[in-house]
Amino acid sequence: MTSANVDRFNSEAAAWDSNPTVLQASHLAHQAILARLPGSEMTCTYDVLDLGCGTGLLSLPMASNVRSVTAVDAAEGMVAALNMKLSDPSCKVSNVRAVTVLLEHPDDPAIQTDPVTGTSEKPRRFDLVVSHLVLHHIPDLQAVLRTMFGCLKPGGRAMLTDFEDFGPEARKFHPEHKMEGVERHGIKRTEMEQLLKDVGFEDVKVERAFELDKAVETQPGSGELEDTLRFPFVICYGLKPEAK
Ligand SMILES: C[S@@+](CC[C@H](N)C(=O)[O-])C[C@H]1O[C@@H](n2cnc3c(N)ncnc32)[C@H](O)[C@@H]1O
Repeated sequence: MTSANVDRFNSEAAAWDSNPTVLQASHLAHQAILARLPGSEMTCTYDVLDLGCGTGLLSLPMASNVRSVTAVDAAEGMVAALNMKLSDPSCKVSNVRAVTVLLEHPDDPAIQTDPVTGTSEKPRRFDLVVSHLVLHHIPDLQAVLRTMFGCLKPGGRAMLTDFEDFGPEARKFHPEHKMEGVERHGIKRTEMEQLLKDVGFEDVKVERAFELDKAVETQPGSGELEDTLRFPFVICYGLKPEAK
């Protein structure tokens, strides 16, 4: 991520949760992930890494399904918004740890602390890595997938949701004035499948997860959001093989 991209997300952080489409997308991503996980007797032991957590719209609901969530984001404004929610007296969530870091290495000290015990184990590895609406901002997809793979325990899984590049209309997902830091207009199923396999994932699947109706610009660059377009979202699944 470029520093311009980090600046962009810092400036968007305060208003991030006021966009109903953003809230709905995170809700649908959470449902899509839960539907593909084993039952609660298994997942209640899971330590989860949410890469590109934003204000915690996925991390917070996930927290009730799992043992812990380590929520990381390169934009400190996003992490500050999540920490504000966590410190609110009405917030009952105590198993989420939010950290500002541009995560590029599985051994990064920022993710070595257990959110529940507060102790540090090196190297700390996860049962599940999730990310939502992040991949289309990543310049080097293979590098981030390699990092995710490295962050997992043997037998751990990645479940990554983002909108799909379904053709030229996918560009309309972002208004023209928000194109900075958009590396691609959605992700491509076959490309993601290949990349996941290339970094070592097994049982790879990239499939339709849900659809989202989103207001788009009437004319590119007009700034007027009136028309609604239906965007397909995919979930990218991969399993890190057990050590042989
Ligand atoms: C479009 S936002 C999505 C936020 C959140 N997942 C949501 O759906 O509300 C993408 C976020 O990914 C973060 N990001 C991108 N690459 C990252 C990396 N390598 N490490 C940490 N954060 C990253 C950005 O800072 C940004 O806040």
